Amino acid sequence: MAIDLQWLRRVTERRKKETSEEGIRLHPPAMVKEVLDFLRVWELKKGVLVDMTVGTGGHTLAILQANPKVKVVGIDRDAASLEVSAKRLSDYADRVTLIHGDMRDTQRLLRQVGIGQVDGCLIDPGLSLWQMDSKRGFSFLDDTPLDMRMDRTSHVTAQTLLQTMSTDELECLFLQSGECRYDARRIAQAIVKERNRSGGIPTAKALAELVMQVKGVRGGRIHPATKVFLALRMAVNEEIDALRFGIVEGSKVLKKGGRLVVLTYQSLEDKTVKETFAALAQPPEKGDDRPMLRILTKDPIRPSYQERKQNPRARSCKLRAAERVK
Ligand SMILES: C[S@@+](CC[C@H](N)C(=O)[O-])C[C@H]1O[C@@H](n2cnc3c(N)ncnc32)[C@H](O)[C@@H]1O
Repeated sequence: MAIDLQWLRRVTERRKKETSEEGIRLHPPAMVKEVLDFLRVWELKKGVLVDMTVGTGGHTLAILQANPKVKVVGIDRDAASLEVSAKRLSDYADRVTLIHGDMRDTQRLLRQVGIGQVDGCLIDPGLSLWQMDSKRGFSFLDDTPLDMRMDRTSHVTAQTLLQTMSTDELECLFLQSGECRYDARRIAQAIVKERNRSGGIPTAKALAELVMQVKGVRGGRIHPATKVFLALRMAVNEEIDALRFGIVEGSKVLKKGGRLVVLTYQSLEDKTVKETFAALAQPPEKGDDRPMLRILTKDPIRPSYQERKQNPRARSCKLRAAERVK
């Protein structure tokens, strides 16, 4: 069975609009004004901000352009993305330091470049558009193996998971991180059946086609394989764990009064931010009874109507922010 043609037409049209003159798709940064406002970029006399998921540099570029006195340290676990952002930010090379690493190691990575406490941190997790096109099996259209590693020096690929997990484990993975409640069991069974029949699922495209063939699979407006791909990607890159520990690390490197801003794009990520902020805003059980953070956004901030219209990818974005209080 072929890929859904209507879906393919929609995707192809959107891709055309998003492609730059150099033939690549740069990630359109979400909620830029709100991010800069919460980080108080315009007010900083001088200072250092950390973009803990710099990607192809959209938010960092906006920060550097907004205030010539601010420096940015950009961290990303994807070395290839850093090459793109280094080129894009080359006009500001004297104010940017790019580091290949995981946001879970922010404190150590900053120490390596001689930085202790900073004025603000931004986390914009997940996958960039540029990565989606990087032929690592993130896209349903990829006729390439299911790799899905953001950091190509790490060991586990999506292929490894599909080859080694049992039906129950795959079902659990899809239920927990992909939120495909109705179809998880049937999709897991189809994967294991195909693996036993042919030895494995060779490409991302083959997986998308297999999911489409599962009887009764539900997709609605999105492609039915979306949540399966999301679940695999999140598992391969330990995204929820990274987000939780990234928030803790970001909070630790903030000066008193420094701000942490986190963007999310799906409910599990937002739940993680809400719970981690709440834990850090509680007074510790022993010793000093002041909490580490004060939450600035009781409810998450959403993109404006205008932004949602201009950049449909930002539609699901939620912003939460907190301030270091001790
Ligand atoms: C949505 S993109 C960021 C886009 C960026 N804000 C921009 O405006 O271009 C997410 C980025 O986070 C990176 N990333 C995901 N998990 C990470 C982690 N644990 N540590 C560091 N970077 C991570 C990805 O490699 C990707 O480049």
